[in-house]
Amino acid sequence: MTKASFHEKIIKIFKKENYSAFVKTFGCQQNEADSERIRGFLHSLGFGFVSSPLLADLILFNTCAVRHTAENKILGQLGELKNIKKINPKVLIVLCGCMVEQEDIKSLIKEKYNFVDLICGAKSLDYFPRLLYKFLTGKEVDNYICDMPVFHESKFKSWIPIMTGCNNFCSYCIVPYVRGREKSLSYEKILFDCKESIKNGSKILTLLGQNVNSYKFEGVNFSRLLEEIDKIDGDFTIRFMTSHPKDFNFELVDVLSNCKHFSGHLHLPVQSGNNRILGLMNRKYTREEYIEKINYAKSKIKNLVITSDIIVGFPGETKEEFEDTVSLVKEVGFSSIFTFIYSPRRGTLAYNMLDSISHDEKVNRINHLIKVQDKISEEFLSRFVGKDLYVVVYDDDKNFSIARTNSNLMVKIKGSIGTGKKVRVKIISSTRSFLIGERIIN
Ligand code: 5AD
Ligand code: SF4
Repeated sequence: MTKASFHEKIIKIFKKENYSAFVKTFGCQQNEADSERIRGFLHSLGFGFVSSPLLADLILFNTCAVRHTAENKILGQLGELKNIKKINPKVLIVLCGCMVEQEDIKSLIKEKYNFVDLICGAKSLDYFPRLLYKFLTGKEVDNYICDMPVFHESKFKSWIPIMTGCNNFCSYCIVPYVRGREKSLSYEKILFDCKESIKNGSKILTLLGQNVNSYKFEGVNFSRLLEEIDKIDGDFTIRFMTSHPKDFNFELVDVLSNCKHFSGHLHLPVQSGNNRILGLMNRKYTREEYIEKINYAKSKIKNLVITSDIIVGFPGETKEEFEDTVSLVKEVGFSSIFTFIYSPRRGTLAYNMLDSISHDEKVNRINHLIKVQDKISEEFLSRFVGKDLYVVVYDDDKNFSIARTNSNLMVKIKGSIGTGKKVRVKIISSTRSFLIGERIIN
């Protein structure tokens, strides 16, 4: 079986030469990277891509399971596909990703969303080509090589997966169950991917993994990997996410402080500022250890931008314990934070903990935290006014360009510059969520 004969079969099934797919990604960057492989595979089979499910022969949702709200949103949008299937029964509907790794969700899909044709959970992504082949032809693939080449969405920024899965089992988190155990990719492959991306014009490399700090392949750890990537010639920035505070160490900070391509941005999710809650969350660090690491990083890396994730309303969190989170946020001075209301996930340890805090109280806490952070963000960004910075343009129209600094701060600039261009800007003012700059032309 070759790709060409697979392609022939698809032409017969859709009864047309030009067929197309609509791929929608929910959730984290890991999912974005997986979708690039899915698109790469579909592209190699001759699929074009469309921006509306109404125009597609194959509709694929790459799903997320991290919070109940994410699942609700996906199921809502999935419900809307029922009508599309009614009008055009030939359209193929496929669900991939974390949500469909869960047995209860699989049963729900079978019962209530039986117009879904094919399910491929996150752990089985490597088998997607086989599953699709079997679905379309009713036969097993015998000698078919299931490569999934990456289809880069963007020319100027690249996702580079370096590891998958997670061994940490934070008590609230479903990721270790739906993505499986940690597995690091070969550093030779990673270095190859980085070099290729840079050769193809990429200016921002984001190394991806659920816990990049525990990268380890044949004796190469994350610090060594960074040093190797940093040696590559070219005008590029290295970002990475996500770091786990327990594995984030002084050695890595020392390496980062010497990396000429390091973006200057750290995403270091703290989750809570209270030691009892951190213990219940199974995070394996204390508030004091977290702050010590942050202070060391700030002392070694000039203008470091730090962001974080925080969960409010973890089972049993008292008002005083929540206040500890507020005080940590004030002490650290994050540039921005992602805040979440605790969402019970079946199968996790915390699922069985008594969740006695009312929803209203959780909403009050998150709103308070957002308000506190807004003030910090406003003050943080105001410190950039007057500075000259390099930015890469992410998007633009006739009137404005939206760009990002190396450290991922958003900058709005008057005039169209062109997506993917790297230019120098002077920051002339700021808001609480973005900077405003003028292009420097010399
Ligand atoms: N409820 C709320 N937030 C969660 N996160 C992970 N699991 C849950 C949950 N059950 C958040 C954490 C993590 C981010 C990606 O999502 O803050 O860092
Ligand atoms: Fe989930 Fe914790 Fe693993 Fe992050 S480190 S993916 S929060 S279990």
